[in-house]
Amino acid sequence: MKSPLDGWYEKAGVRTDPRRVIGDELEAGMTLFPEKLIPYLDHPLVRALEPRHRFGLVARHLYQYMLFTMHFETSVVNRAAARIADGTSGLHLPSPVRLDAYKIYCDEAYHALYSLDVVEQVRDATGIETPDYDFTPFLGRLDGIGAEVLPGEPVLVQLLQVVVFETLVTSILKDVPKDPSVIGTVREVVRDHAEDEGRHHAYFAAFFRELWQGLSPALRERAARCLPELVSRSLTPDLVPVRTSLAAAGLGDAAVREVVADCYAPERLRQSVRASARHTFQLFESVGVLDVPGARDSFTAAGLL
Ligand SMILES: [Fe+2]
Ligand SMILES: [Fe+2]
Repeated sequence: MKSPLDGWYEKAGVRTDPRRVIGDELEAGMTLFPEKLIPYLDHPLVRALEPRHRFGLVARHLYQYMLFTMHFETSVVNRAAARIADGTSGLHLPSPVRLDAYKIYCDEAYHALYSLDVVEQVRDATGIETPDYDFTPFLGRLDGIGAEVLPGEPVLVQLLQVVVFETLVTSILKDVPKDPSVIGTVREVVRDHAEDEGRHHAYFAAFFRELWQGLSPALRERAARCLPELVSRSLTPDLVPVRTSLAAAGLGDAAVREVVADCYAPERLRQSVRASARHTFQLFESVGVLDVPGARDSFTAAGLL
């Protein structure tokens, strides 16, 4: 049986990619993150800030993305990958599928390493401090959603979390490598990451088919009803670091509230969830998730269809 992880020893980033080291591009006036992907940078109150404050916002946006990625890979993706690999997922999986999960585990650990490495290198090059970043509230919320919508099934929730996140296609992975205004180190690291994630996406799509087939009809019905909530609430961005960063750029409390309310309005958030999760929804559709009684209504009610 062919696997998306075939050739991993020759192709995986952790096996082949060099360490990406920052050069002198910052002096050449390049930026750290595509400005069009930062939801608040074009807001009139933010546009009015001095260039050095806007640059600080871009740097902290990069830090936030990289630090979120670092935590997410080790605390969420590898929590589930380890279960699949070590036999505690509750599924009877053939050994190649389990070995592949350990390959993903190694990939994600390497992604965490270079995410932090980029943050440290950029901090040293720019002198812009890294704000404290606490992932615990996000993880608590993510697990809380699972406990609330699918009580009594913590392992299944962890497996569904990883399927959702590993089958998303975010505009960041797609667009950052192509943006010539961004320094090479950031573009290279995101490109390296996207290459591995293409293989993970295929693995977790196949994994979800197996997982779904193995669920009882009753559990399928419960899971199908909770998936839209799980997807939309999991993808809601953490706004605490955004507020902190806007305040650090010199905006007062009222201005911070206005920018966040304008740039993260509910309909805008729903649009971005729908766009990032479209492949995940296609996967759900192809596996028959939407044919389960009540499922289509739940997706529609969550504004996802
Ligand atoms: Fe990753
Ligand atoms: Fe991944």
